[in-house]
Amino acid sequence: MSDKKIGSWYWFDFAKLDSTNNYALSQAPSLSSSQKILYTAQMQTSGRGRRGRSWVSPLGNLYFSQLFFSSLSPVEIVYITALSIVQTIKKITDKLVPQIKWPNDILINDCKIGGILIEKSKEEAYIIGVGINLISSPKLHSIYPAASLHDFEIDINRDDFLKLYLTAFDDNLLQSFTAIKNNFLANAYKLHQNITIGLGDKKISGQFIGIDENGFLLLKQEENTLIINTGEILFS
Ligand code: BTN
Repeated sequence: MSDKKIGSWYWFDFAKLDSTNNYALSQAPSLSSSQKILYTAQMQTSGRGRRGRSWVSPLGNLYFSQLFFSSLSPVEIVYITALSIVQTIKKITDKLVPQIKWPNDILINDCKIGGILIEKSKEEAYIIGVGINLISSPKLHSIYPAASLHDFEIDINRDDFLKLYLTAFDDNLLQSFTAIKNNFLANAYKLHQNITIGLGDKKISGQFIGIDENGFLLLKQEENTLIINTGEILFS
């Protein structure tokens, strides 16, 4: 076990990995029920994003995975993670308005600066993978607008970001889902506006009116309100 810790998290830092999520998955079989482990890599050679996308991972940005067991639902874990990132950025600066694009993209000025990939191991351990663009972002050939914190004149080092983030994350683990959900909504991109959700090849539009008690997105259409539990809001 590493003797390096950030708060309650044992910390293993690598110069290079294929993917911190892959590494965390490989370590899950030996995880004990109360252990909380953080894996970071200074660069990744096969960083993975959601929906089979790749996550370009050059030196200088933040790439980490948290490995732990929790009785919380995947929806709760997603919201806690996204909210903790937003709270971290707000701690660093009061000049920017970070937002969460449901369910788990982090935006500043409508540009993606961070993403979350949550997986579960065979043993049912959570692996929360997070990538934050600290100094660079994939501008060319990107399917969405992306930026880095540096683009917004925020220069924070990786370790300081991690300390703030893990403190926020551990605090949020103790909050009720209602509190998390309300805080998530207070930072949500396009709340009360018309949005389009991508569900695989399908697209569905309506007004984003809130999130229900299960954490599903409520999309109001002319006749009825749809309850959406998968997909993602598309950039418009
Ligand atoms: C997304 O927005 O599609 C999710 C991106 C998640 C990227 C992070 S970087 C650290 C961890 N390791 C991976 O291979 N992916 C996640």
